[in-house]
Amino acid sequence: MFRPVIRPRRLRGSAEIRRMVRETHLAVDDFIYPLFVTHENTPRTPISSMPGQDQLSLEELVKEAESARALGIPAIILFGIPETKDSEGSDALSDTGIIQRAVRAVKESVSDLLVITDVCFCEYTDHGHCGVIKDDYVDNDPTLDLLARQAVSHAKAGADLVAPSGMMDGMVGAIRLGLDDAGFVKMPIMSYAVKYASAFYGPFRDAVESAPKFGDRRTHQMDPANVNEAIKEASLDLEEGADILMVKPALSYLDVIRAVKESFDLPIAAYNVSGEYAMVKAAAQNGWIDEKAVTLEALTSMKRAGADLILTYHAKDAARWL
Ligand code: PBG
Repeated sequence: MFRPVIRPRRLRGSAEIRRMVRETHLAVDDFIYPLFVTHENTPRTPISSMPGQDQLSLEELVKEAESARALGIPAIILFGIPETKDSEGSDALSDTGIIQRAVRAVKESVSDLLVITDVCFCEYTDHGHCGVIKDDYVDNDPTLDLLARQAVSHAKAGADLVAPSGMMDGMVGAIRLGLDDAGFVKMPIMSYAVKYASAFYGPFRDAVESAPKFGDRRTHQMDPANVNEAIKEASLDLEEGADILMVKPALSYLDVIRAVKESFDLPIAAYNVSGEYAMVKAAAQNGWIDEKAVTLEALTSMKRAGADLILTYHAKDAARWL
């Protein structure tokens, strides 16, 4: 009878030894918590496809930010639902726009919490696209000027870090130049460098009412089948001045996270997106999976793949569980 000499099970025999040889440690320091803020006065409007997440009034946003901070979460990222949407997305550029007001409100009331803003136009345009439209196509270069203006206005409101998510060519360079010219040389940029045209964003688009009114985002977001292209996108953003590179979504793209991590020395972020969250929540509500175990396993897999930071709607729950 064959008897193995090498027995990997020896290192799995007790919780203590497993703890000692564990390779990946998830920590609350890794989390960025996304929050949705609305111009409306209704304190909380539940987002039906994202159980546990709400559209928040400014007042509730501040409370939510405070509770994230109290759990040790280092950063939040804000998404806005403006009062009016138009073809240019002008609320995004206004010093009294929903995000600018939200940033000021949080920065005035909550200390020791990094406030990140998403720099894109899809939440603010009436057509739901990420920039200026010309002949049914998102017109790249005119959108760059607007993105730079949006980032500067977030910086003026007091944002700590900006995160461009529109996948326009040159967006990081344009924003870097805009920020530097306006005196914000210290403001870091976390680029949604590798962002796929993914069906996993569905619940988010319900949450901010940003689904495109015609067409889709496949002429600027990446084809889910590509990974070499991820390296090209990430290297361009690095050259243009990105400080942190993001891969989005996370769970179906763990190989991409690993590839980007191995190619670059920058901190890598992964976005555990709305559809990934919705699937876990739905299955858990049906009693089909153990929510805590599945969530922690999924988040650990992102970290193991190479993510240094994780944007996740599970952040508060995970912070309590860790
Ligand atoms: C664009 C943006 C999107 C998400 C984050 N920023 C939507 C999109 O690209 O259509 C999706 C986040 C998620 O699904 O959780 N402003």
